[in-house]
Amino acid sequence: MSSLTIKAARAEQAFILAYGSGSELQAYAPGRVNLIGDHTDYNQGFVLPVAIDMGTTVLAAKRSDNLINVIAMDMGGERVSFRLEQITFDEAVSWSNYVRGSILCLLQALRLNDHDKDRAKAVGGADLLIHGNIPQGSGLSSSASLEIAVLKAMSDLYGLGIDGVQAAKLGQQAENEFVGCNCGIMDQLISALGQDNRAMLLDCRDLSYRYAALPDDVVMVIINSNVQRDLVESEYNLRRQQCDEAAEFFDRPSLRDVSVERLCAVEGQLESTLYRRARHVISENARTERTFDALKSADFQRLSQLMSASHASLRDDFEVTTPEIDFLVAVLAERLGCEGGVRMTGGGFGGCVIALVPKKHVVTVEETVAEHYQVNTGLTADVYVCSAQAGAFNR
Ligand code: GLA
Repeated sequence: MSSLTIKAARAEQAFILAYGSGSELQAYAPGRVNLIGDHTDYNQGFVLPVAIDMGTTVLAAKRSDNLINVIAMDMGGERVSFRLEQITFDEAVSWSNYVRGSILCLLQALRLNDHDKDRAKAVGGADLLIHGNIPQGSGLSSSASLEIAVLKAMSDLYGLGIDGVQAAKLGQQAENEFVGCNCGIMDQLISALGQDNRAMLLDCRDLSYRYAALPDDVVMVIINSNVQRDLVESEYNLRRQQCDEAAEFFDRPSLRDVSVERLCAVEGQLESTLYRRARHVISENARTERTFDALKSADFQRLSQLMSASHASLRDDFEVTTPEIDFLVAVLAERLGCEGGVRMTGGGFGGCVIALVPKKHVVTVEETVAEHYQVNTGLTADVYVCSAQAGAFNR
């Protein structure tokens, strides 16, 4: 029996023990890795994420009252309870805010929509139990996967029929308005709508998306730097604000609407930090579309160049990398040459590096990390060889 099957069996036992009877259903939502296109989603740009084979499962059963009970197995079995009519932020149990926020946003959306008012009334309480295997705080979107799994569980329990895009919007809203992180929509959308063995090119302006199969020979290797991610939220929100200020300078709703030519024309007029932030976003959008094409044609040389340029831009212009992440990327890029791509992935300030390599080079990546990372940084990295999996609403 695999460790996941054992965990699933233990989860059902824990559910019965806590709530007195078995679960009615389970909802599963994956975490994500972003191949390229970071800090572009909240600028209405392009991203190229993949849903990975790590995720969050929510076991659920309806209740006849308005109480939501939640147990988090990975938090030592910690339990919270709240009423549907009184959902407030919980300072003490921070993980619970992703559940609270998602359910609150779901109820508000149903109440606001005339067609859905009856469905809002039909939503009752639930007993929930959560477990997962995404390393928390590593930048692989454990929180987005929790939001999407909770929304899918509530939608299935009460027959609400919400779709993947709606769920992604609600998850993002919960994070923005309830939890207080101004994230974009990438993580929630790929967790909801990822596909087996495919990457998604998402246009965050109109939420249209296309998939590209990962070439047979390509493997995604994620290296978790295990750098403690401090200041992530405040620095993230600051970057977003700087991008908004830059867009305002151009008198445009977002940096998506600013061309490279327009940017170059204002060098020296736009304050230099804002200029560099804008240069990252504008150039990253172009790289992301090009990477989608390079992926489709399995052009490793192109992938390698584009991912390297993306990393440099995030390091020098957007300033969201750390020395440990830069070290990992540099040492791997040197070893892989033009036979694979490597860059930081996600929000930054620690977290993970993604390498896209032909199968035969997985071992090169593993050996390089083992040989150099700890000696040079004092930290131990974890290496995950991942596959692309279906999102919660594509299962
Ligand atoms: C975090 C956010 C995403 C996105 C990335 C950076 O993961 O949640 O919305 O902005 O950072 O690309």
